[in-house]
Amino acid sequence: MKRLLSLILILLSLAGFARERVRFDEGWEFAFGNAFSPALDFGCGTEYFNYLTKAASIHNEGPYSPKFDKSKWPAAWKSVTLPHDWAVDLPFAREASHSHGYKTVGYKYPETSVGWYRKTFTVPAGDEGKHFTLRFDGIFRNADIWVNGFWLGKEPSGYATQVYDISEYLDYGAENLVCVRVDASLEEGWFYEGAGIYRHVWLEKTAPVHVAPFGTFVHTTLSDSSDQAFVTVETTVRNSAATPAAYALRHTILDAYGAPVGSASLPAQAVPAKSDSRSERAVSLDRPRLWSLSDPYLYKVRTEVLDGDTVIDAYETPFGVRSVVFDADRGFILNGERVEIKGVNLHQDHAGVGVAIPDALQVYRLKELKKIGVNAVRTSHNPATPEMLDACDSLGVLVLEENRLTGVNDEHVRLLRRMIERDRNHPSIILWSIGNEEWGTEWNDKGTKITESMREYCHRLDPTRLMSVASSSGPHILVTADVAGYNYILQHKIDDLRAQYPDRKAVGSEETTGCGTRGVYFDDGKNGRTASLNRRNDTRDSTYNVIGRGWRYYQERPWLGGLFYWTGFDYRGEPNPLSFPATGSEFGILDYCGFPKDEAFYLKAWWTEEPVLHVFPHWNLPGHEGEKTSVWVYSNCDEVELTVNGKRLGRKKMERDGYLSWDAVYRPGKVVATGYRRGRKVLVETVETTEKASAVELEADRTAIRADGRDLAVVTVRLKDRKGRFVPDACEWVTLEVKGPARILGVGNGDPAWRELERPDDPDARMFRVKTFNGLAQVLVQSTHVSGEAALIVSGGGMSSIQTVYVEALQ
Ligand code: GAL
Repeated sequence: MKRLLSLILILLSLAGFARERVRFDEGWEFAFGNAFSPALDFGCGTEYFNYLTKAASIHNEGPYSPKFDKSKWPAAWKSVTLPHDWAVDLPFAREASHSHGYKTVGYKYPETSVGWYRKTFTVPAGDEGKHFTLRFDGIFRNADIWVNGFWLGKEPSGYATQVYDISEYLDYGAENLVCVRVDASLEEGWFYEGAGIYRHVWLEKTAPVHVAPFGTFVHTTLSDSSDQAFVTVETTVRNSAATPAAYALRHTILDAYGAPVGSASLPAQAVPAKSDSRSERAVSLDRPRLWSLSDPYLYKVRTEVLDGDTVIDAYETPFGVRSVVFDADRGFILNGERVEIKGVNLHQDHAGVGVAIPDALQVYRLKELKKIGVNAVRTSHNPATPEMLDACDSLGVLVLEENRLTGVNDEHVRLLRRMIERDRNHPSIILWSIGNEEWGTEWNDKGTKITESMREYCHRLDPTRLMSVASSSGPHILVTADVAGYNYILQHKIDDLRAQYPDRKAVGSEETTGCGTRGVYFDDGKNGRTASLNRRNDTRDSTYNVIGRGWRYYQERPWLGGLFYWTGFDYRGEPNPLSFPATGSEFGILDYCGFPKDEAFYLKAWWTEEPVLHVFPHWNLPGHEGEKTSVWVYSNCDEVELTVNGKRLGRKKMERDGYLSWDAVYRPGKVVATGYRRGRKVLVETVETTEKASAVELEADRTAIRADGRDLAVVTVRLKDRKGRFVPDACEWVTLEVKGPARILGVGNGDPAWRELERPDDPDARMFRVKTFNGLAQVLVQSTHVSGEAALIVSGGGMSSIQTVYVEALQ
């Protein structure tokens, strides 16, 4: 019935439906320009006839001009599909930026730091008079954009969504050209940031009178008993025409099945030429289904712009009904109940694709985090990709969204506004952050004043949420923040601060995981790998495992909102305390592919209800025979008993939020842990010394994907021995072959010192290769536009396996 209603609603409004949103990800050409030499940069900016002297660069024949002649330039153009991060394909160099993972991009590498993108598209003659915008959700960085040789503008930020009105520049009934010059010479952050158009691009077609970009703000308040929600819909309608107009609005609230559950309307209004018209309407919703972590229920508002009886625009705003409170005594409260924030920081970066993460991979990453009990992410240290926020909304993950630049001038406020206006409808977002570790202001009054000013801008842009700022240790930026962000308990005397500021609301914006390289138990700095700090600090006092220290601290102080570990996933850059040949960070609880490190099981044990028993190190430690080796267990069993090579080492009681360890001597053999709950044996975990790898096992996160050229399956390659045991130290090259309608988007293995190619040069290549790292590798298998059965065949060293993925036709 509900489905039928929504169908009728859709059909009714189709009559005059004008908005069309076309994904602009395919059909781009890419070539390197040059950051130092205008002559090598396709002559861009060399002559009187450059792109700034006149509105249309008619005399200039640079890549932005329809007259551009590729054959006059030596640069090689290749076809690319967005999202695209060209830095992924660049070689590494010891002299390159440590913080950006030693990739040969940046001011020292002018020939690989400027990228040009071109795409042609046709606009039907009948569309003359419509309003067209081009929207770029993220280009790293310093992007100039042209349409048909007309310069649209420059966006220095690598993290801001940009929207350009192109209606006047288009050729109707003909071919059009969009061109983007990207200059990644300068870094914005101190972590890998990629290079290129790494988020989606959209072409939007509307009537001249339409809902403006980011033109709705839907917020809700709940009655005390939560049985009624008051939904406020603020709308900005834009008249982009050169003549005045009139419009009316009809808002319909739809439940998750598309059935109408409330409505409001705005009578006819005048809107002058080239102007915006704002309105506010309230709708009350009886017995609303709340958005929560376990039931992330989403409504949406369908806003129709009417010209008389004709619908001239229809715009949808998903939203959730929930209440979010930060409290100085109770911490974080969602829908009236205290929730401990079990969060992680995330940089957007993944093996095989860099910062250009496809939507399906965003979902994969969040799901892997949810498996270990993570309920929140901090988008360190920049505004997120919109599709990542959509995924948080629908998976029930809380978000602390962070701004990149701290400051109070036009440019800072513009970027803050861009983030908040774009994202304030996401129910997942619980807090805005105006910055991180601003060392120049943390210890002086400037910090106090800047935070205070930015707080007020945040409140004006979004009166429904509080803001925060993360301090490395300086006190001044925190005193004027709504919610203090403590980076690391070792750097703040949090109990003293509580005594000094009893009304202060606070969260742990960063906390140490103590992680190292997955599956590495002995430091190997010269090869770029390091053992986990957690085991190094084994003093037999369970408060000393680093990851546990943070969690216990926040658990014991319910007046704090919870914490965000640094980090959820490994990312490229900042391989601290190591340097080249290490290229990636090792702070992640999951590695660069999302494979869990031992510490993931510590969190899973204490952050989820699932029974956990995890024993480590693995028992393939050649060269260490006869050495004293402590064996650790992360578990939420009441007691655990350990037997090493047949010798019983005793049964120990597990403290809440703790871990267990036993002294053993390493000799090849077998470690068996037995977990008990209320005296009953519930779990047994065996770790054995294996033989060498002789079999490969493949496992796809999804075996059916959509034939849209974007969806993907994440395939794990796992090496096993003759007896079917996982080989935790196997590092073997394997060959990949794809058959059927799919391609290899990228590969990885989680090794923080891996410096091999991560994807084929030709996206349609059928063959590639990857080396497993400590038994595992990952292959991202992406659909094309063809449906059918695709297969990934992995072989090497006499082993072979096949994973089938069904590429499903689009409905
Ligand atoms: C923090 C900083 C993070 C990251 C981390 C590495 O102080 O906020 O961005 O750099 O250190 O340890």
